[in-house]
Amino acid sequence: MRASSLWVFAAVLAGSATGWAFDFVGPESCRGCHPEAYQIWRQTPHARAKDSLSPAQQKDARCLSCHSPNEADQRTAAVSCETCHGGGRYYATGYVMKDSELVRLAGLADPSEKGCRTCHDASSPSLRPFEFVEKLKRIDHWSAARAAAELKKKK
Ligand code: HEC
Ligand code: HEC
Ligand code: HEC
Ligand code: HEC
Repeated sequence: MRASSLWVFAAVLAGSATGWAFDFVGPESCRGCHPEAYQIWRQTPHARAKDSLSPAQQKDARCLSCHSPNEADQRTAAVSCETCHGGGRYYATGYVMKDSELVRLAGLADPSEKGCRTCHDASSPSLRPFEFVEKLKRIDHWSAARAAAELKKKK
């Protein structure tokens, strides 16, 4: 096997940890029900992770494995909702989402420090080691999402 096909194979394996390409629905599908989370994610480097690559690098599986791991589905380019939360095909409906057990059976993943570290590892071009708690704060889209959900309940 050529080195390049090995990388593609590794990328597919990495993808299967969160779901297969056909399980993805894309961030626009989450947006309608989670507008706060979507807006904040849009402003994080994750949403632009593919844009950091040159056109040639955007075809290089070695870069895509972290900058756009679900590349096989164009709707889910960059580091997207489903890269961390799992492919939404079976869970992304209001009925399933409200049931915290069912939603996990349907593929919702709980993002973890270990998950972050699959990309934020020694090979990424960071000046400082990955500080989970500090980095988590920088991508906080859940405080706003939870506040909005609380408001909805009160109505
Ligand atoms: C049809 C509306 C709808 C769609 C589409 C939807 N969600 Fe949800 N989601 C909800 C509702 C309702 C809840 C329950 C909590 C709340 O009110 O926010 C929820 C809860 C969640 C939770 C917390 C679940 C728990 O039990 O911890 C996550 C994470 C989440 N959604 C992510 C996503 C992602 C990622 C997508 C897109 C792939 C998505 N949602 C698409 C309506 C939706
Ligand atoms: C699929 C790979 C991947 C995963 C998983 C991932 N990241 Fe990232 N992250 C990236 C890439 C790539 C960038 C750089 C994006 C760019 O600027 O091109 C980045 C950038 C960031 C940044 C901005 C740069 C910095 O260090 O301040 C933060 C913060 C961050 N990630 C936090 C997290 C956290 C927290 C998790 C886990 C909950 C996580 N990431 C999971 C790939 C990933
Ligand atoms: C192991 C995962 C991983 C791989 C593979 C990877 N990157 Fe990254 N890359 C990251 C992370 C994580 C960051 C953010 C680092 C930080 O700021 O903490 C990043 C940041 C960058 C940035 C800086 C973005 C900015 O705006 O500051 C560029 C450019 C970049 N990577 C290009 C590449 C290229 C080109 C390749 C392929 C040769 C590549 N990366 C492969 C994880 C990866
Ligand atoms: C880099 C990984 C990452 C990406 C990308 C990401 N999330 Fe999250 N998300 C998390 C983490 C981590 C948490 C939970 C933090 C906690 O429990 O304290 C979370 C929490 C949430 C919650 C709140 C769940 C609850 O318990 O109330 C919602 C809703 C959500 N995300 C939706 C989205 C949507 C929609 C997108 C895309 C627009 C997205 N996320 C992109 C990592 C990510």
